[in-house]
Amino acid sequence: MLVCSCNFVTEKEIEAVVTELLDEDCWRVIVPGTVYNRMQKRGRCCGCFPNVIDIIVRTSEQYHINRDSTGAEFCDF
Ligand code: FES
Repeated sequence: MLVCSCNFVTEKEIEAVVTELLDEDCWRVIVPGTVYNRMQKRGRCCGCFPNVIDIIVRTSEQYHINRDSTGAEFCDF
């Protein structure tokens, strides 16, 4: 699904970058700028950023569930 029409970025591409960033440091804070910078793109209208944030949160939660991170290490946003 296309998430960013300005840069033609799909949901799968964002999920892949978030996973790649978490593989480097699983507790880093990821914001849309982090993801777009990694893809060598940047926000133009930034209308997609709320959806990108939802994808980052969902992907990060799933990342930690899949890797048996302990519940004590989770925090709600
Ligand atoms: S829709 Fe993503 S920057 Fe415009």
